[in-house]
Amino acid sequence: MILTTHSPAPRAFGHVTVAGAGPGDPELLTIAVLRALEAADVILHDRLVSAEVLALAGPEAVLIETGKQGFGVSMPQDQITAMILGFAQEGRAVLRLKSGDPAVFGRLEDELEALEAAGIPFTVLPGITAASAAAAALGQSLTRRGRNADLRLLTGHGVSGYAEQDWDALARPGAVAAIYMGKRAARFLQGRLMMHGASPETPISLVENVSRADQRILGATLATLTGALSGLTGPVVMLLGLAPRTSSHAPFCANLEIAP
Ligand SMILES: C[S@@+](CC[C@H](N)C(=O)[O-])C[C@H]1O[C@@H](n2cnc3c(N)ncnc32)[C@H](O)[C@@H]1O
Repeated sequence: MILTTHSPAPRAFGHVTVAGAGPGDPELLTIAVLRALEAADVILHDRLVSAEVLALAGPEAVLIETGKQGFGVSMPQDQITAMILGFAQEGRAVLRLKSGDPAVFGRLEDELEALEAAGIPFTVLPGITAASAAAAALGQSLTRRGRNADLRLLTGHGVSGYAEQDWDALARPGAVAAIYMGKRAARFLQGRLMMHGASPETPISLVENVSRADQRILGATLATLTGALSGLTGPVVMLLGLAPRTSSHAPFCANLEIAP
């Protein structure tokens, strides 16, 4: 058993499960998260949690969407945290459901610290992060002996604008990074990487709506990155350093497009 339940002194409180819903396809849920969905009284979920996953909630469950997609409107974090605490203090089984893995760009610690401070027991359940599902869609490995011994998960945006990174390391041949929330920062990323010596021919794959029925895979390069992104309106994870697998007979990826 690898999951830990953090239970302070027993109280008449409910329990909070903070869980990852994966990238969208319900087949990619863990059994533990499926059970939590079926058992929850209240589910507070991010907008990127798919309708197909939410359809697995118990019939009596109350579903509350907390925002946010891209730069759209979202509920302030304080308000989300207050709701989680409030429902738990009423004795409800609360499921806080985040897309992908709650520990990857999911503001997990904000909520766990509030739960700890309030003495409310919680469990964290991992999910499949967008980068893992995207690599599977490309038929590629995120790490490979002789190519890259490390893997970076980056956000395009920090708390105050575009996020600075270790550009020298990222620009090295063979470097692999998964870039989340990178659409708006694409020109910045492209410029920084090239300024630090990355080849314009460096492959970068764009996977939109990964694992969903409308998934799209675009094989681009650093040079074609911004143009390739222009038609993508859904969530996109970019895999720097990886090209979609192809074979001489047929593309591995049925819906692969190559960015001009
Ligand atoms: C706030 S982050 C949440 C990441 C999430 N916790 C995870 O582990 O995948 C949101 C970003 O994750 C990526 N993302 C999440 N779901 C995705 C999906 N189904 N397809 C492509 N990218 C996705 C996009 O880059 C999106 O802007």
